[in-house]
Formats: sequence, C-alpha cells, structure tokens
Amino acid sequence: MKKITFLDYYQNKVHLAFENVPFSNNPGHVWVVCRYKGQWLLTHHPRRGLEFPGGKVEPGESAEDAAIREVWEETGGKVGYIVQLGQYKVYGKAETVVKNIYYADIKEMEPKDDYMETKGPVLIQTLPHNIKYNNSYSFIMKDEVLPHTLSYLEKKDITKKA
Ligand code: GTP
Repeated sequence: MKKITFLDYYQNKVHLAFENVPFSNNPGHVWVVCRYKGQWLLTHHPRRGLEFPGGKVEPGESAEDAAIREVWEETGGKVGYIVQLGQYKVYGKAETVVKNIYYADIKEMEPKDDYMETKGPVLIQTLPHNIKYNNSYSFIMKDEVLPHTLSYLEKKDITKKA
C-alpha cells in the first residue's frame, strides 16, 4: 500500500491511499466523484461551495450505500456503476475523519424540490485548474485528494469502463 501524506487546506494532516482499504474497514464518511453524460456532477454546498457529493455513513448502513444515498440526496443523481477508488484519513482539529473515495457513473438525474442541506446539482464539463484559489469551490476540493483521485481515474481508465 502506497500512502501519500500532505496537509489539507486547513493545515490538517491527511493520509491518502488507493486500491485497498488501508486505514479503516468502517469509514465514517464517503466522498463520491460523479460523472453524468460526460460531465462532472458536483453539489453546491451553501457554506463550503462546489464539491463532489458525500457525507456521513449512517448507523447500520454500508459505506457504499451511504455513497449512493448521498449522491441522490445532494444532486438527484441515480447511481448506475459505482466503484471504490481509495480512502483518506484527516487528522482534524476536533476529530479524525476516515473517508472512502468512490467513482460513480450517474445513469439518470431527477429534479427534486429538496436537496437536503445543499443547493443541489451543478454539472461542469471541465474542473478549473486553479481550484485552490477559486472562491466558488469547497475546501475539500482544494488539497491533494482531488488531483490524485483524478490521476488514478485516468490511469485505470475507470470513466470508460462505466
Ligand atoms: P457536519 O456534522 O456535517 O456539519 O460536519 P462537521 O464539519 O461538523 O464535521 P465532519 O465530521 O464532516 O468533519 C469534521 C472535520 O473533518 C472538518 O471540520 C474538517 O476539518 C475535516 N474533514 C471532513 N471531511 C473532510 C474532507 O473531505 N477533506 C478534508 N481535508 N477535511 C475534511
């Protein structure tokens, strides 16, 4: 297992790994890199800004089920294909968070009245190069998790397999 270590936007230490489940078999959080018809599917969080959907795993729920549920709640996207890419662990100020990273291909988008705690879906063709300095984007998109995840997706040709 190759572990990548860096500091996040808030200077918290992060461990990141792909392939297997290196940090925990019971992650508390999930993060889902989504594509719909060749576009990236993000959600608009009212405070944090644009980010890939995700959230907390509920009691009794598997992490993959949480990923599917969060995508639906925050974007109205129905997950077709889903695969786990990796996992990261953030040593936050108050708590340590372990998050599974998934890739999901969305088969259908359903408009909804309520996107839970978010302002709903945002589809974009290309992610901006300078996300770190872009006020529209969430801090969770501003550390090395995103570029490493996108490189891994490309290396494994995962978006083509969906
Ligand atoms: P809510 O309970 O949903 O309001 O969230 P919260 O901010 O109280 O807590 P959460 O458990 O989501 O996250 C706790 C802390 O972990 C955050 O304040 C961040 O410092 C960190 N964290 C959570 N998710 C991520 C992530 O995806 N990336 C990074 N770098 N840090 C994260």
